[in-house]
Amino acid sequence: MLRLLLAGSFLGSAEALFSGDVPVVSIKGIQGQVDMPLLGLGTWLYNSSVAEGAVTTAFGMGYRHVDTAAAYKNQDGVGRALSKTNLPRDEFFVTSKISGGLSASATEATADQCLEDLGLPYVDLMLIHFPSAWDGNFSGKKYRQEEWKALEAWAKSGKARAIGISHYCSRQLDDILEIATVPVAVNQVQYHVGMAQAGRLSTDDRDYMQSKGVLYQPFSPLCGPCDPPANKELITGKLVTDIGSVYNKTGAQVSLRWLVQQGLPAIPKSSTAVHLKENFEIFDFKLSEDEMSRLSAATSPAVGGGPNPTDSGDCGVTEEEVTLFT
Ligand SMILES: NC(=O)c1ccc[n+]([C@@H]2O[C@H](COP(=O)([O-])OP(=O)(O)OC[C@H]3O[C@@H](n4cnc5c(N)ncnc54)[C@H](OP(=O)(O)O)[C@@H]3O)[C@@H](O)[C@H]2O)c1
Ligand SMILES: *[C@@H]1O[C@H](CO)[C@@H](O)[C@H](O)[C@H]1NC(C)=O
Ligand SMILES: *[C@@H]1O[C@H](CO)[C@@H](O)[C@H](O)[C@H]1NC(C)=O
Ligand SMILES: *[C@@H]1O[C@H](CO)[C@@H](O)[C@H](O)[C@H]1NC(C)=O
Repeated sequence: MLRLLLAGSFLGSAEALFSGDVPVVSIKGIQGQVDMPLLGLGTWLYNSSVAEGAVTTAFGMGYRHVDTAAAYKNQDGVGRALSKTNLPRDEFFVTSKISGGLSASATEATADQCLEDLGLPYVDLMLIHFPSAWDGNFSGKKYRQEEWKALEAWAKSGKARAIGISHYCSRQLDDILEIATVPVAVNQVQYHVGMAQAGRLSTDDRDYMQSKGVLYQPFSPLCGPCDPPANKELITGKLVTDIGSVYNKTGAQVSLRWLVQQGLPAIPKSSTAVHLKENFEIFDFKLSEDEMSRLSAATSPAVGGGPNPTDSGDCGVTEEEVTLFT
């Protein structure tokens, strides 16, 4: 089993972890609490062979959590790497995602295909990737509720331990809470240093999500897909490297530590072994309150590297539409 370190115990002490020991955060599963390792590996934009290599290297270092999706088209590579580890199924955590805007039958078929591609009997977490189809079609409450209900039914058959959403703003979360019969475990949204001052109408409405018991899970924790130079700011920028120099840590480690020290899981992506190792070594130091505040006060880089830290939500890109399932 994953070793459980309660928030207070690992956040309060600079505790060295041994390989395979991964601090976790609890999420609300279908049948009770599920432990999610606070540090995982992202795989967006990796093809199957790169994903296979990255997962193999990361899991060799002690990672026990990987984030993938149907849309990434790399689940077969992720699955091959997991299979090669020979780890028992309950010793690692896998998140997958199905597209938004799917009909009930497409929800079931797409989710089943994820398991087949991964070669796994179940995933730990299955997310609905977006509050509508990618192009904004099949948007609105009716479609969101239909997909959620279908995902619940699928998960209840033992195929996911927990289910959740991604890119949802508060009003879209409310559509799901209105009809949910199992917990919405997670909302995965972009969040990193530079976004803590973003607006309440954005997906960064963290307090609201958390008040509903939904774990706020940051993606792009290093602003990887942000436009240059924002994509380097959380790695080589002055704020994070100045703080890092106090602890002999890199800027990237400080950026990730800021998340996990708040109990928010981080899923940085890397295919570089030295970076994978760095990103994993964030549980043996602790930022001071003052350093945490300075990182939280930062308004750059904003989401997507854009100019305005408040324009970071997806509420606006999915206006209600009346497009029927075909
Ligand atoms: N739900 C969603 O729609 C959604 C959207 C975006 C992302 N995600 C998830 O979140 C994961 C992470 O986000 P992301 O891939 O967008 O970007 P990210 O993790 O913020 O940044 C990745 C970039 O940072 C570099 N990097 C990583 N660690 C580093 C280090 N220690 N030092 C220097 N450079 C480092 C990587 O390059 P190297 O390979 O050279 O290290 C890569 O170019 C994704 O892979 C995906 O799983 C989900
Ligand atoms: C996967 O991506 C890597 C890196 O971009 C590339 O070198 C490789 O050829 C790709 N493999 C396939 C099968 O497309
Ligand atoms: C999405 O909607 C637009 C117009 O509302 C339509 O032209 C397009 O064909 C739709 N796409 C799909 C995949 O249904
Ligand atoms: C600083 O960190 C690096 C990388 O982990 C390590 O090799 C080096 O020994 C550390 N230096 C000190 C003074 O602790």
